Amino acid sequence: MTTAPADPDDHHDDASDGAPAFGHDAGQGSFFGRRKGHKLRSHQADLIAGLLPRLALDIAGAPPADLRSLFAVPVDDVRLEIGFGGGEHLVAEALAHPRTGFIGCEPYVNGMAKILSQIEAHDVRNIRLVAGDAAELLAWVPPQSMARIDLIHPDPWPKRRHWKRRFVQDATLAAMARVLKPSGEFRFVCDIDDYVAWTLWHLSRAPEFIWTAERADDWRQPWPNYTMTRYGRKAEREGRKATYLIFRKTAETR
Ligand SMILES: C[S@@+](CC[C@H](N)C(=O)[O-])C[C@H]1O[C@@H](n2cnc3c(N)ncnc32)[C@H](O)[C@@H]1O
Repeated sequence: MTTAPADPDDHHDDASDGAPAFGHDAGQGSFFGRRKGHKLRSHQADLIAGLLPRLALDIAGAPPADLRSLFAVPVDDVRLEIGFGGGEHLVAEALAHPRTGFIGCEPYVNGMAKILSQIEAHDVRNIRLVAGDAAELLAWVPPQSMARIDLIHPDPWPKRRHWKRRFVQDATLAAMARVLKPSGEFRFVCDIDDYVAWTLWHLSRAPEFIWTAERADDWRQPWPNYTMTRYGRKAEREGRKATYLIFRKTAETR
């Protein structure tokens, strides 16, 4: 497992406005968090204005028949990371798998600015981005076109009255099952025990998925070559241990 470098700009809970927002703030679709935070540094603002439009997918139009055609380099498969935060896991995966195309979806402007800086620094060619709600992206994606979907430390929403905001819901699971190829994977990492139990319960009811774990370490330890995210490091500092779940798509449908 590798660990993302420390960053003083650590995650969203440091409130201060000033950065531009993508779309609207809280409460729309399955995104309820903050879309903007710290004021962007000047180069970050340039990347949002100049590089993001080149990498952003237009999910208002029709999708291509083959998602692999979205990438400037030849790719064999396409994967999605939902809510990539600062992008450390997504960039590491893209660099490690140059023949895979990655779509990263993140509505938080400061996260988008961070990943753009990394994409520029490493000249990453196999990432496309969506600055919005992953539920809208999933609705746009053609069926059976993705090899894997990662959801790493989704917003926890620990209070019962907010559970309907959790990303894992029957509708989003059905959407993921639709876009995954046969034997495609949904990978989930979370440090909130209650959300882990919630996810296992929802997935156990979803006939399209089976949980692949065979021994406790399969969920207690990160999978090989996992890149720890900023939020994961924060959870560890605060004494919360993450659970790592891998589900494989079966041939079953509802
Ligand atoms: C707790 S943070 C974790 C970020 C990152 N995965 C990490 O581990 O550091 C959850 C992220 O999910 C994003 N998010 C929340 N709802 C989303 C949605 N509907 N679609 C895409 N991203 C979403 C938030 O903006 C936030 O960056």
